[in-house]
Amino acid sequence: MKLFIDTADSAFLKQWASTALIDGVTTNPTSLSKEEGEPLAIVRDICTVMGNRDVSVEVTERDPDVVYQQARKIAALADNVVVKVPCTQLYAHTIDRLVKDGIRLNITLVFSVVQALYMAKLGVAYISPFVGRLDDIDSDGLGFIADVCTAFARYDFKTQILAASIRSVRQIHEVAQCGVDVVTISPQLFTKGFYHPLSEKGIEKFLEDWRKTEITTFP
Ligand code: E4P
Repeated sequence: MKLFIDTADSAFLKQWASTALIDGVTTNPTSLSKEEGEPLAIVRDICTVMGNRDVSVEVTERDPDVVYQQARKIAALADNVVVKVPCTQLYAHTIDRLVKDGIRLNITLVFSVVQALYMAKLGVAYISPFVGRLDDIDSDGLGFIADVCTAFARYDFKTQILAASIRSVRQIHEVAQCGVDVVTISPQLFTKGFYHPLSEKGIEKFLEDWRKTEITTFP
């Protein structure tokens, strides 16, 4: 399973990009709007920091023809850009054209298996089914991810399932069990993922016992 970071915080990405932990980045208009600085400069910076790893950048226009033009411009920003387009019938022809142009797309705001199947049939690189926003409306986000994985396992789509809107460490565990290709998580959740109280307690205990030996040089 690949791990993407859901952020436009380039300072955070610079701390971790050199490790093998992070496989890519997803941004959206909300995350870009929260950062200080000019969004285009931030996107360019993130694309450079991530090297050849995918960086999703979302369209911000509404009209399908304008979305098409904007998507082409976004795709031209860097080789590792994946253009994020919302899942709606309004953009079906635009998505089809962009895929046929060879542009890699991440279809965002996917909330049903049928939407996921339609987008996979169009040949997009990623679909982003949202977990947390379904849970927010008392629906079953995890069950939805499981259903998408089951449906995709029966066919030969090239589209990768990118679990998004993840709200807890437990959900990272659960979507991994479902077999998603990618999970995207916030920097805060990424940090939380390292933590377990028994790991911390165990470290203290091992060090405490070792101090009792009074050995100062080892090995
Ligand atoms: C990622 O691509 C999505 O934009 C993101 O995970 C949405 O998360 P949210 O529902 O917490 O805003």
